[in-house]
Amino acid sequence: MECANAENFSKRRDYLCFESTEEIKLPRDPLQQIIGQPEAVRIAKIAAKQRRNLLLVGPPGTGKSLLAQSIAFHLPAPMEEISVLHNPEAPERPFVEVRSAEKIAEEQKIARQSQGKMVEPSEVPSFVAERLGFRCRRCGRLSRATEASCPNCGLDKYSSLQSPFSDLIGTYLDEPRRQDRVHTTRSAGDREEVIVYERHGEKIRVLDQAALERIDALKRSRPRKVLVPLERKSFVSVTGASETEILGDVRHDPYGGHSQVGTQPYLRVVPGAVHEAHEGVLFIDELSALNQVQRNLLTAMQEKKYAIVGKNPQSAGASVRVDGVPCDFILVAASNINDLSYILPPLRSRIIGNGYEVLLETQMPDSPQNRAMLVQFIAQEIRKDGRIPHVAPSAAEAIANEAARRAKALDDASNSLTLRLRELSGIIRLAGDLAEAEGAPLIEKKHVEAAVKRGHNIEEQLKERYGSIWKANVSESALNPKPGKQKEIS
Ligand SMILES: Nc1ncnc2c1ncn2[C@@H]1O[C@H](COP(=O)(O)OP(=O)(O)OP(=O)(O)O)[C@@H](O)[C@H]1O
Ligand SMILES: [Mg+2]
Repeated sequence: MECANAENFSKRRDYLCFESTEEIKLPRDPLQQIIGQPEAVRIAKIAAKQRRNLLLVGPPGTGKSLLAQSIAFHLPAPMEEISVLHNPEAPERPFVEVRSAEKIAEEQKIARQSQGKMVEPSEVPSFVAERLGFRCRRCGRLSRATEASCPNCGLDKYSSLQSPFSDLIGTYLDEPRRQDRVHTTRSAGDREEVIVYERHGEKIRVLDQAALERIDALKRSRPRKVLVPLERKSFVSVTGASETEILGDVRHDPYGGHSQVGTQPYLRVVPGAVHEAHEGVLFIDELSALNQVQRNLLTAMQEKKYAIVGKNPQSAGASVRVDGVPCDFILVAASNINDLSYILPPLRSRIIGNGYEVLLETQMPDSPQNRAMLVQFIAQEIRKDGRIPHVAPSAAEAIANEAARRAKALDDASNSLTLRLRELSGIIRLAGDLAEAEGAPLIEKKHVEAAVKRGHNIEEQLKERYGSIWKANVSESALNPKPGKQKEIS
C-alpha cells in the first residue's frame, strides 16, 4: 500500500497506510535511520565532514552509540597504513613508518612483478624442461612432473644415468636428474643475463634479471610489523577503562627480546584504540570512567601522535618505546548527565574547542509524522533482529501508544512519544517472539499488549503482585527473615 507523503498526513491514523511493516522502505544511510534526533544528526553530519569531536549526553538507549557508528559511515576510507620497523642499531626503539595507499599499491605491484612469469613446460628450453622433470631425456616426450616414468618410452625420468659398471664402482656417473630450480643465462641484446626457472606444480615460473633484482631489494628491506592495516573499520569503540586497550602496549618476552631465542621488540608492539582509530572515529562510552587515562587521551588529541610503550614495569616490554605513532581520530564520547562533572575540564574544553556537545532528546511530539518515523523504527528493528515477523498496522499503533505511555511515565511528557528506544525495541522483540511461537504471520495488537505486560520491569511486577514496593518488602522479610532476626525469634 502506498503512503501519502508524511507532510500531507491529514488524519491522525494516516501513518498506518501499510499492510505490514515489510513494505516500509528503509534508508541506506545509517544517519537517516536515527529517528527523533534531528539536531544530533545535523551535528553528526558536520562532525563527519569537518572532522570535529562530539560529546553525546543522554540517558541509556537514546542512540548515542548508533550516532557514533553512523559518523564513521560518512568518512572516506582510510588512506594510511601504520607499521613498526626493526631498528638494527637499537632494537628497543623500533621505527614507525606510515605508508600511503598509493605507496602500498606501488609496492604490491613490484612484489607481483617480482613473482616472475608462469609458463608451460613446452615454452622453456628442452634441457630446462628435462631437469625440472617434465621432459624425457630419451624420447623427448613432455609429461607431468609428478609422473616418475615417461608415458611414451617408460624411462624412469628421475633415476640418474647409471654406468654399466656402477655395481663395481658403486657410484653414479651423473647427478640426480630432477631439480626444482634451474639457473642459466640468456643473451639480452648485447649482454648475458641470468635467468632462473622454478617448478611450480605443473607449471614453470621464469624469473628474469629484473625480477631477481626486485626480490633482492624486497629481501633487503627492513622487517616490519603492520600495526594498523589500510583495510580497516573507521569505527573503533572502547568500553573498558583499560590503559593498554586505549594507548597500546609492548608484550612481555621471557627471553628479553634475545636476537636468537626471543621475539624482537618490534614484533611485540601492540597498537592502542587511539592508533587503530587513526583517520576514523574513536568512540568512548562513559568517558568519565576513563579517570586518569583522560589526560593521555587529551595529549593524543593535541599531538595527533602517541608513543607506544610497555605499560608493565615488571615486563621486558617496559624498555621498548615507539615514538610518534600517528593517531588522528575524531573523538565521539558518550556520558550520562550525572557523570559530566567527572570529565576532565581540559578534555571537555578540547571537545568544545574543536567540536560540539549534544544533549539527546528523550521524547518527540506525538504527531502522525513522528508516528510514521516510529513505524520506520519498527521496520528497522525487525530487519535487524531477523528472527521475528513483521508488524500489522494495529500492532504498530499499539507500539506507538506504548511509546506515548512511556514518554508520560518516564519523562512526564504529555502528547509525546518516547525516544528511549532500546526499551521499546525490547517490546517489539518480545511481541515478535510471542507471534513466532504461535506461528502467526504478523505481529498483531494482542502480541504487543501481552509483550507490554510481560515486559514490565521488576519494580512494576512487584507493584502488580503486592500493590506497592513497600508491601513487597514487608512480605519478602516475613518469608525470608534475615539470619540475625531469625535468632531473635527463636
Ligand atoms: N534515535 C534512534 N533511532 C533509531 N533507533 C534507535 C534510536 N535510539 C536508539 N535506537 C535503538 O536502540 C538501540 C540502542 O541504542 P544505542 O546503543 O545507540 O543507545 P545508547 O544511547 O548508546 O545507550 P547506552 O547509554 O546504554 O550505551 C539501537 O541499536 C537502536 O536499535
Ligand atoms: Mg551506547
